[in-house]
Amino acid sequence: MCGIVGYAGTKHPKDILLDGLKALEYRGYDSAGIAIKNEKKVQVIKSVGKIKYLEDKINNNSLIDSNLGIAHTRWATHGAPTETNAHPHNVGKVTLVHNGIIENAGEIKNKLISKGVIFNSDTDTEVAASLINYYYSGDQIKAIEKATSELAGSYAFGILFDDSDMLFAVKKGSPLIVGIGSDGNYIASDIMAIINYTKRYILPEEDEIAALSANSFKIFKNGKEIKKEILTADVSVEAKSKQGYEHYMLKEIMEEPLLLENTLKPFADDMSLIPDLKEYSEIHIVACGSAIYAGMIGKTLLEEKAAIRVYCEVASEYRYKKVICDKNTLVILVSQSGETADTIAAMRKAKDMGADTLAIVNVKSSTIARESDEQIFIEAGPEIAVATTKAYILQVAIFGLLAYKASGLKNLKREIGNLPRLVKEILDDRDTYLKIAHHIYKNNDVFFIGRKVDYAMCMEGSLKLKEVSYIHSEAYQAGELKHGTISLIEEGTPVFGIITDDDIRDKTISNIAEVKSRGAKVITVSNENVTGYDLGVVVPKISDFFQPILVVPCLQLIAYEVAKLRGCDIDKPKNLAKSVTVE
Ligand code: M6R
Repeated sequence: MCGIVGYAGTKHPKDILLDGLKALEYRGYDSAGIAIKNEKKVQVIKSVGKIKYLEDKINNNSLIDSNLGIAHTRWATHGAPTETNAHPHNVGKVTLVHNGIIENAGEIKNKLISKGVIFNSDTDTEVAASLINYYYSGDQIKAIEKATSELAGSYAFGILFDDSDMLFAVKKGSPLIVGIGSDGNYIASDIMAIINYTKRYILPEEDEIAALSANSFKIFKNGKEIKKEILTADVSVEAKSKQGYEHYMLKEIMEEPLLLENTLKPFADDMSLIPDLKEYSEIHIVACGSAIYAGMIGKTLLEEKAAIRVYCEVASEYRYKKVICDKNTLVILVSQSGETADTIAAMRKAKDMGADTLAIVNVKSSTIARESDEQIFIEAGPEIAVATTKAYILQVAIFGLLAYKASGLKNLKREIGNLPRLVKEILDDRDTYLKIAHHIYKNNDVFFIGRKVDYAMCMEGSLKLKEVSYIHSEAYQAGELKHGTISLIEEGTPVFGIITDDDIRDKTISNIAEVKSRGAKVITVSNENVTGYDLGVVVPKISDFFQPILVVPCLQLIAYEVAKLRGCDIDKPKNLAKSVTVE
């Protein structure tokens, strides 16, 4: 999704803005641009494609003197990824970058056209810039307030006015932080964009307006200046680097053992830190993408081990569905970023209906972390690769903890003591995953089959493979395959069979035999030897609560190796955004 960064300070903004944009690349984008200004002029430079092209263009231009600027990576929503549609948008005295979607842009555009305003792009952002410009008559805060009060949808804006030497910003429903530095002040979609310059930041709430100069930062609410707490980010500058790994995805997978150790230890030392889910009559798990697949594992464990009724639903459906929940319901929101628009909407709906909300979340400053009633932080550190790996594993680990406690068991230390070492041993077996990758990377279709908790792992294995390697892949409940999809199995079609659940082991093995006899190339991932198939990975058998944590890393590494063999842009797969901050 779009990323914004801005600077008002004592230095020329070019390098700071480019540095920020590069740090935001992980969010996914298809064009980029910057605007810098001084008392006389605003200079806008934009480019389609990689930031490298924008950088080349900037370097080939003579830049004006400046110490004020905004920049943007655009993930196209309204209008194709062209230079005209790229941000910043300059209308009259206003230059603006935007992350979000203005839902009533069409209506406002028609109103402004009727007043003689001319539009150049197809974007909702130009409409917002025009509206602010329309209301601007020398008081920036008033113009921003008046315009935003008419906007429906989501936004984080960075705004420059021709006749002001300050940087303005405002947000609603999209992430925005204000960085406080010694050489100036900053705005950004996320702290990683400015971490080389400052760790101190303010979190503006909805519709609070930031006004920043080189040596002052003010936040306004309803036209009045308010005081805000300055926070300190607990991320290191090094977290931004690949630390010698070829890709962030690989680095992040390799971090899993240590992160599991660090994240789980406090809970093992003191189980009272784990929320007691037994007090609720029903649990809803709501999330998107990999996070909902982690939730599916949670649902299986909570139902099977603790006999709690659990309903698991993707947030984009939950937010619009007729949902039955009340004060006896706990709604668990799972999100790495804490900024996924649908998950935020689902959380707000659950709260409105009187349910308690618990967030399993990574980013502590995020909307979901701040608005949920209770939080469990997975402590994954920054996850830069678009495809989630370490965050997913930690989400699954947290569900293991919740189910373990809910089932009344007490010796968690013993249960998870070996987990980090076992995961490390699995990750070290890179040759096996490369060998499997060689067997499948030229195929066009891959299937994953399993039952119950194994099916939930199939969903994640399949998503990981398709998002980084672009191979079409589907996950099926093993017993369901013969109701249609088995017609797609032909000679050499790779089928992964995940088999860890003792109760249905034999059933899954029968389903695997069915695809094998139709020519499938079968790869088993199991916790007991399964013989007679083409390729296999056997992971140690451990407690059901944590077994998925030994299986999915294998699937992550296979997806990684396949993507590498196919020459894909592993950390930034096409069309994907790290944090889906619009509907
Ligand atoms: O930040 P979130 O955990 O809320 O993100 C949810 C999904 O968008 C995310 O898991 C997505 O599916 C990833 N691309 C998966 O690798």
